Amino acid sequence: MSEAAARSPGGMGDDIGDGGAAIDKERRTWIAITCGVGAVGGVATAVPFVSSFAPSERARAAGAPVQVDIGGIKAGEKLTVEWRGKPVWIVRRTPEQVEALKKNESQLADPRSERKAYPTPEYAKNAYRSRKPEYFVGVGICSHLGCSPIDRFAPGAQPSLPADWAGGFLCPCHGSTFDLAGRVFKNKPAPDNLEVPPHMYLSDSVLVIGEDNDKAKA
Ligand code: FES
Repeated sequence: MSEAAARSPGGMGDDIGDGGAAIDKERRTWIAITCGVGAVGGVATAVPFVSSFAPSERARAAGAPVQVDIGGIKAGEKLTVEWRGKPVWIVRRTPEQVEALKKNESQLADPRSERKAYPTPEYAKNAYRSRKPEYFVGVGICSHLGCSPIDRFAPGAQPSLPADWAGGFLCPCHGSTFDLAGRVFKNKPAPDNLEVPPHMYLSDSVLVIGEDNDKAKA
């Protein structure tokens, strides 16, 4: 299938400044290549993400699932693709990042994804909010007022984050924070975790976003 390329600048250690400039930078620099499920040969098209979250003509017309080659994502990196006009993040977590998720639970507003506003698929109602601990697949839109959180993957103290920060996402609009499973921390403006879209794996390197039929692999 075709390559889904051009990662967002969200790799581990990537330093993006705070505020609107950071959002602009992220939106400018990520490029998604998508192709419809079932398309013979998977015709790929470069789709620069627009500066708003208005659905693309392509997605609006079809609402189709998006097939993504995740084989090139390195541990600690994030790939962003567009699905139904939304940015969907695919984060390949390192073993250390997976382990760190266990430390967060007491600080989270909804650690088991039981809230209903953004229902989490059953297969993602676990400690990782995903089918595979290694990969987090989530919609990159804050559940407060719809800003796009920015990557703060590096652990440790840094501006707007606590000293025991284990890595995750910071929404610069009003300061909501999310762990690397998209779970929102307590006492933040955002009421819910980041949405996990329907998804499934066709193989170890091919992910489908927008579809999760019974044939999906764990
Ligand atoms: S939009 Fe994210 S905290 Fe308000």
